[in-house]
Amino acid sequence: MKSVLITGGAGFIGSNLIRFLIDKYKDYRIINYDSLTYAGNLSNLEKISNKNYFFVKGDICDYSLVKKTFEKYKIDTVIHLAAESHVDRSIKDPLSFAQTNIIGTINLLEIARTFWGKDFLNKVFYHISTDEVYGSLGKKGYFSETSSYDPHSPYSASKASSDHFVRSYKDSYALPVLISNCSNNYGPYQFPEKIIPLVINNIINKAPIPIYGKGDNIRDWLYVEDHIRAIDLILHKGLIGETYLIGASNEWKNIDLVKYLILETDKLLDREKGFSDKLITYIKDRPGHDIRYGIDASKLKNNLGWKPLFSFEKGIIETINWYLLNNKWLKNVASGEYRDYYKEHYF
Ligand code: NAD
Ligand code: TYD
Repeated sequence: MKSVLITGGAGFIGSNLIRFLIDKYKDYRIINYDSLTYAGNLSNLEKISNKNYFFVKGDICDYSLVKKTFEKYKIDTVIHLAAESHVDRSIKDPLSFAQTNIIGTINLLEIARTFWGKDFLNKVFYHISTDEVYGSLGKKGYFSETSSYDPHSPYSASKASSDHFVRSYKDSYALPVLISNCSNNYGPYQFPEKIIPLVINNIINKAPIPIYGKGDNIRDWLYVEDHIRAIDLILHKGLIGETYLIGASNEWKNIDLVKYLILETDKLLDREKGFSDKLITYIKDRPGHDIRYGIDASKLKNNLGWKPLFSFEKGIIETINWYLLNNKWLKNVASGEYRDYYKEHYF
C-alpha cells in the first residue's frame, strides 16, 4: 500500500487530484495536509468518504507536525502542492510567499530526507511547480525543461527557489525527486481571484471585469483534469530526478479569453449576445506583468505518452457550467476576507 502525503490538498488542484487518486487507486492511503488558508476549503472534498483518506490540518512550516504525520502514516510518497499561489497577493505580501513556498518546501524536504534515512527505495518526493519560474516569452519560442529561470514576481521567485531546493536535495542527498512545471490551469473549484473563475463570477453578478493594461498578455491554458492525468503519469512512470513541463499549446490573449468567456457564459445564462461586454474595465497594469507563457510539452508527450483530453471549447463549457451549478460554493468562497481584498485591490 502506498501512503501518499498530499500537501495543499484542499486547494484547487490538490482537491481535484485527491478525488482522482482516491477513485483510481482504491488501496492507496491518501493524507491531505493543509493549513486551510483563504484558498483551502474542505467543501472542495465534501463528497469523499473513503476509509483510506485522512485530513491533517497543519502548516507545512510546522516541523514537528509534519514529522509526526510522516511517522503516523508511514509516508513513502509526497506530492507537494501547498503554496501561496496568487501573483497579485505576492506583490502585496511577499514574505508569506517566501515563508510557505520556500521555507515550507525545505521543511518537507528535510523531514522526508531524515524520515526516509538512507532507504530511498520506493520513495518519491514530487514537487508541483509552475511555468512562471521561466519568466516571460516574446512573440516566438516556448518554455522547455532547459529554459533558464527568470522569475519576475515574488510568487514565481519563491516557486523558482523551491524548485532549486528540490534539485539540491537530489544532488546533495540523492533524494528521489520529481518536478513538473505546468502552465495556467482552469476548471472546477478554482478560487475566484484567478482570471477565469473571477470573470465567470463577475458576469453572473454583472460586476466589472478588471483587465490589466491592454489585455494583450498571453497565457497557455490547461484544463485541471489534464494536469492531474499528467501528475498521475509522472508519479508512476516519470524518471526519478527528472523535470517535466506540462501544457496543452493553448495560448490566449487575456482580452480574447475574456470575450470568449462572456460569449459562452451569456449564452448559458440566456442573455442576449454581447450583454456582458460593457462589464470589461481596463485597469492599471500589474507590475512586472509577464507578457507571454507558452509550453513545449514534447518531453512529457514523447517519453510518457501524455496528451490532453480536453479541447479548450469542451473544458470551458464544463467549467462555466460547474460554476453556474455550484453558485452556492462560489458565493461562499467569494465572501468575507476575499471580498475585502478584492475591493482594496481593484476598485
Ligand atoms: P491554491 O491556492 O488553490 O491552493 C493552495 C493550497 O495550499 C490551499 O488549500 C492552502 O490552504 C494550502 N496552503 C497554503 N499555504 C499552506 C501552508 N503554509 N501549509 C499548508 N497548506 C498551505 O493553489 P493551486 O492553484 O491549487 O496550486 C497548487 C500548486 O500548483 C501550487 O504549488 C502552485 O504553485 C502550482 N501550480 C498552479 C497552477 C495554477 O494555474 N493554479 C499552475 C501551475 C502550478
Ligand atoms: P492569473 O489568473 O492571476 O494567473 P497568473 O498571473 O498566475 O498567470 O492571471 C492570468 C492573466 O490574467 C494574467 O496575465 C493577469 C491577467 N489578469 C487580469 O487582467 N485581471 C485580473 O483581474 C486577473 C486576476 C488577472
